[in-house]
Amino acid sequence: MSITYTTSEKTNHYLELEELYGAHNYHPLPVVLEKGKGINLWDVEGKKYMDFLSGYSAVNQGHCHPRIIKALQDQASVLTLTSRAFHNNLLGEYEKYITSYFGFDRVLPMNTGVEGGETAIKLARRWGYVKKGIPANQARIIFVDGNFWGRTLAAISSSTDPSSFENFGPFMPGFDLVPYNDLIALEEALKNPCVAGFMFEPIQGEAGVVIPDEGYLSGIRSLCTKYNVLMIADEIQTGLGRTGKMLACDHENVKPDILILGKALSGGTMPVSAILSSHEIMLTIKPGEHGSTYGGNPLACKVAMESLQVLLDEKLTENAEALGEIFRIALNKIKSPLIAEIRGKGLLNAMVIQAEDKDAAWKICLIMMEHGLLAKPTHGDKIRFAPPLVISEQEIMDAVETIQKSLELYEQHQ
Ligand SMILES: Cc1ncc(COP(=O)(O)O)c(C=O)c1O
Repeated sequence: MSITYTTSEKTNHYLELEELYGAHNYHPLPVVLEKGKGINLWDVEGKKYMDFLSGYSAVNQGHCHPRIIKALQDQASVLTLTSRAFHNNLLGEYEKYITSYFGFDRVLPMNTGVEGGETAIKLARRWGYVKKGIPANQARIIFVDGNFWGRTLAAISSSTDPSSFENFGPFMPGFDLVPYNDLIALEEALKNPCVAGFMFEPIQGEAGVVIPDEGYLSGIRSLCTKYNVLMIADEIQTGLGRTGKMLACDHENVKPDILILGKALSGGTMPVSAILSSHEIMLTIKPGEHGSTYGGNPLACKVAMESLQVLLDEKLTENAEALGEIFRIALNKIKSPLIAEIRGKGLLNAMVIQAEDKDAAWKICLIMMEHGLLAKPTHGDKIRFAPPLVISEQEIMDAVETIQKSLELYEQHQ
């Protein structure tokens, strides 16, 4: 079956520019967006969509949130970047704000999510040598199968997805893998005295919203404590209200030794990431041993504080929890042979599609796009549904109607 969708001359113009002049490292849906507000996006034709991807959870507060944009604009006209060669008047205020917000001693500000992961691993290695007593250059970091934490050489060195790592070697040494959601395998791996850290996502986002069994997070906490290994939670996608708790680790009331945040830390306006930890761990890195030109810039500090405050003031975590429940109940009522499974927590959800056609999920996304809902398949058969957390119950129900109609239309084309 071929799904037909219409692209106008104007849209084609933009598609062609990217096709001709850009690297082909993405395969986007054929929609060209030019405006966003709240949960909505508009394309260059003026057509309105509901955004059910939220920039991979970077836009939890909704597109162009007025308070975040005001903070950005106000600060942009005063001071944007000093570098860390000098102090600026917002860094300390931000550091105090974010550490008390999440209950950690110290923060190290970076920019992209993947830099957050790199920083956490450097910190764990350093702690392993100077505090745990691991012999020089022997430190190991454990990851799980199906992990995703970005695209740098270190990040793909831990990847189990051939499309991430194939033909990009040689890879970073000192990384090991265990199956996800398997505490027995984790315990075996942690017995190696050279292990400095275990890095994981509390719910695997890019792998297709894979939710571990209840008890996995608290089990990780106990094992890391038992074997003196740092528990490193990558909450870049699951944090900041997305799963119906401020952090996904809060579902089991556990506190990691290192917390990595990114994405919605700036409400989708600029790359801002943060690594939070204790005095003991953080102070193992000394001046000149790590940094970034843009990390901790005053513009990012101001925007991050406002983005975090908006989450609290608008009770977006609570909204994610309540509407996530309603969303999954409504999705589960859809009778379609195409649905193999609906799963999720809060507003991080996935529908697993079953069909002989291996492109079924992609084609269903094209039909949804035609009908005003934007979502993207991951790993072929899983469609992630993760709208901005400012969504209303009525909008959730409208979305479910569009999803149902799109599944029916796909079936009719078969
Ligand atoms: C869990 C997780 N960690 C890290 C990253 C990398 O973030 P960035 O793309 O900002 O480098 C992502 C991106 O999707 C992610 O989902």
